[in-house]
Amino acid sequence: TGKGTLGNQIAKTRGWHLLDSGALYRAFAFTANQRGIAPADIQGIGVLGRETEFSFDIAASGEVEIRVNGREVSMRVRGEGCGRLASMYAAIPAVRSRLIEHQRSRRQDPGLVADGRDMGTVVFPDATLKIFLTASPEIRAQRRYNQLKSKDFDVTLRRLEAEIAERDKQDASRMVAPLVAASDAVVIDTSRRRIGEIVEEVDGLLS
Ligand code: DC
Repeated sequence: TGKGTLGNQIAKTRGWHLLDSGALYRAFAFTANQRGIAPADIQGIGVLGRETEFSFDIAASGEVEIRVNGREVSMRVRGEGCGRLASMYAAIPAVRSRLIEHQRSRRQDPGLVADGRDMGTVVFPDATLKIFLTASPEIRAQRRYNQLKSKDFDVTLRRLEAEIAERDKQDASRMVAPLVAASDAVVIDTSRRRIGEIVEEVDGLLS
């Protein structure tokens, strides 16, 4: 948590494009699940990957609007249930290789802020600047709780803590593109800092 807000602010102040790669994994997992295609169904995943178009627009409110084949799915992919699904499908190499093309195609002038677990290690290994954000599990759960509550999701803090820990474990232990910091990333612990300070620090690193 924190990466979406930071990415958004940096992209906005610089007038750069924004890639929320988690939203892409969530949208893919949501669609596969709705169509009854299991993560292990390699053939079904391949067909879905070829047939599915994703689009992302920034609404006037600043929120990212996600569409799958033209259909708005933004609110339906935001909850923790879809986060868990995304984490399961994200461990499948066929899913990752399909989504990597889409992510790389978003690298456009004047610049791109890409947010996600494997941006610096796999998708954009030659990025100008790589930031790896960390925060204590309690603080991450609290931020996620506030974020979901503000969107009227029915969540509890204790359950979120357990779900975040479980998802981290799954994302960090998978064989392809696991959650690790790139060796050349700047690590920033956001636990005790306000977002404005971190935006300033990252802005300084870019100048
Ligand atoms: O950042 P997020 O919570 O929206 O991501 C949801 C899941 O998608 C995450 O648990 C794992 C997967 N994901 C991934 O494997 N690689 C990315 N670059 C982004 C997300």
